[in-house]
Amino acid sequence: MVKKVTIRTFLKKKREGEKITMLTAYDYPSARILDRAGIDAILVGDSLGMVIQGHETTLPVTVDEMLYHVKAVRRGVERAMVIADMPFLSYQTGRDDAIYNAGLMLKEGGADAVKLEGGERVAGLVEDLVGIGIPVMGHIGLTPQSVNVLGGYRVQGKTGEDIDRLRRDAKALEDAGVFAIVLESVPVEVAKEITDMLKIPTIGIGAGPHTDGQVLVFHDYLGIFEDIKPRFVKRYRELGQEILSATREYIEDVKSGRFPAPEHCFYLEKKTSQED
Ligand code: KIV
Repeated sequence: MVKKVTIRTFLKKKREGEKITMLTAYDYPSARILDRAGIDAILVGDSLGMVIQGHETTLPVTVDEMLYHVKAVRRGVERAMVIADMPFLSYQTGRDDAIYNAGLMLKEGGADAVKLEGGERVAGLVEDLVGIGIPVMGHIGLTPQSVNVLGGYRVQGKTGEDIDRLRRDAKALEDAGVFAIVLESVPVEVAKEITDMLKIPTIGIGAGPHTDGQVLVFHDYLGIFEDIKPRFVKRYRELGQEILSATREYIEDVKSGRFPAPEHCFYLEKKTSQED
């Protein structure tokens, strides 16, 4: 029986100084591979709006689309915690919408927790969700659903006032009951201060090495998404290039008749044993 990662595991890792690993995934086979590799948490991020659907922002993603991907990921995962992102307008419109849509992520999607963006502004909603049994992960710093207000995908928390707001947001979320907070695109020093200040773990993306854990987007760390290359991404492979060259090989093989070869074919009669 596999020992599942829970919010208690997250808190224990923070207490014991053990880093938490998280990646995004959006479908069954990739979730299965990440789980087999031993990842602690899989975030079904609304980043799928960009890396799966090809939108310029995460804003168009709907609850139904999220649910479709959460269900697929759930089927591929035994050990990791599955966290469903709450898409734009699924919680900002009020308590009832937030509870209903977050509830769907657990009830229909099979997620273990949800993530939503915002600090003090959403603390009341977080309290309501946690109060009815829905674990919530926070997300502050660069919050992509607010890209139009932030004026682009830029580093947050560079001035005294902004740093102060981040501190207040982090504390408000912790007090409201989140089990962890994603810190996106904030200076290393600020991420460290917030991490040290909190009892719950921080998961960084573009936030340096001092956060309690790290998260990256599937298509970024594997080099599949080539439209944007953020500085904070380490590309562990160039699978986009691999897929390109494999596809060119396939095209050549089909054109030249090298594929399918006898070993890829079914015959009415058994030929030589080599061809079985
Ligand atoms: O949507 C997403 O993938 C995210 C991560 C970048 C943290 O929110």
